[in-house]
Amino acid sequence: MYALAYHHHSDKQASHITLEPLEPTGHDLHIAIKAIAVNPVDTKVKASLTEKLATPRVIGWDAAGIVEAVGDKVSLFKQGDKVFYAGDIGRPGCYASHQLVDERIVGHHPKSLDFNDAAALPLTSITAWEALFSRLKIGEEDNGKYILIIGGAGGVGSIAIQLAKAVAGLTVIATASRLESQQWCKNLGADHVIDHHDLLTQYQQSKLPAPDYILCLNNTDQHFADMTNLIAPQGMICSIVGTAKHHDLDLLKSKSAGFVWEFMFTRPMLDTPDLIQQHHLLNKIADLIDSNIIQHTRTTAVNPFFADNIQQAHSQLLTGNTIGKIVLSIPD
Ligand SMILES: NC(=O)c1ccc[n+]([C@@H]2O[C@H](COP(=O)([O-])OP(=O)(O)OC[C@H]3O[C@@H](n4cnc5c(N)ncnc54)[C@H](OP(=O)(O)O)[C@@H]3O)[C@@H](O)[C@H]2O)c1
Repeated sequence: MYALAYHHHSDKQASHITLEPLEPTGHDLHIAIKAIAVNPVDTKVKASLTEKLATPRVIGWDAAGIVEAVGDKVSLFKQGDKVFYAGDIGRPGCYASHQLVDERIVGHHPKSLDFNDAAALPLTSITAWEALFSRLKIGEEDNGKYILIIGGAGGVGSIAIQLAKAVAGLTVIATASRLESQQWCKNLGADHVIDHHDLLTQYQQSKLPAPDYILCLNNTDQHFADMTNLIAPQGMICSIVGTAKHHDLDLLKSKSAGFVWEFMFTRPMLDTPDLIQQHHLLNKIADLIDSNIIQHTRTTAVNPFFADNIQQAHSQLLTGNTIGKIVLSIPD
């Protein structure tokens, strides 16, 4: 059992470390990892390692694999089950051959996908699902309403467009700034695509009605003022990207509009009583994939899972212009 881990943000590459034997207890599954996906949170956590660690940090929160053993309280899975999951940011991540993960945040693997394509889904699906249905509280009665998704072609946007269109029945306006990212958003079901550079003007020129919902998946600092201008009266804005500047919530007061955060690690990190909702929503995602209602979002495979390939995947993420998801497969 091994992992690729970092001692410090300045590490050019991850170090190969041997893992102690992992014994699952309680609700934990012991999982043999077959594929992982990279996310911006990986590079952010790596960048936060400003003190040189004696025990290196294993990062990575998107994986697919096979259950090898289960803890004494496990009831949702058994040995041999195929699974996909994001995990808990407070525990060692998935840049590893094996990992312990709480069953309540793990889903049954989509039957129609291989490990690579399944690994692309969990973190972004949890984020998009919770943003749309738990934070914005979109329900059946909202069918046909308008949602603006800022950052439509990225990892989260690629699944959010599909859930907003195919599950919630909304009219989807996505933002993308290049021909290939615009086409990607349309292929995933976006009804309209506009450029996120000078968002306010672009939206006004489109002559579309004011959006009832805005889901901000990129650079909240850049888009906050435009979002407050664009949102419909009594509308709701959800962002998943933290800010470096202070913003004026009073700009939403005359419209009685709301602003809410989504952070997909809240449930595992704070051990909320509804933790198991992440298990249920991942199973729903698998069903939607297997019923061909939504599609996986992997666009790139950088194989195999070696330190220099992880570095290459991180470099691609840091450009800020990736489309869909990047995955790596883990050799047996
Ligand atoms: N809170 C949470 O739980 C949570 C969960 C997941 C991710 N996140 C955060 O959410 C952000 C997005 O994650 P991701 O995985 O979707 O990222 P990503 O895949 O790296 O996003 C890339 C996309 O962002 C678009 N983009 C670049 N700059 C933009 C801008 N200024 N405004 C709007 N769109 C822009 C690009 O589209 P064009 O090339 O077409 O311009 C590109 O296709 C990251 O900051 C990540 O850390 C938070």
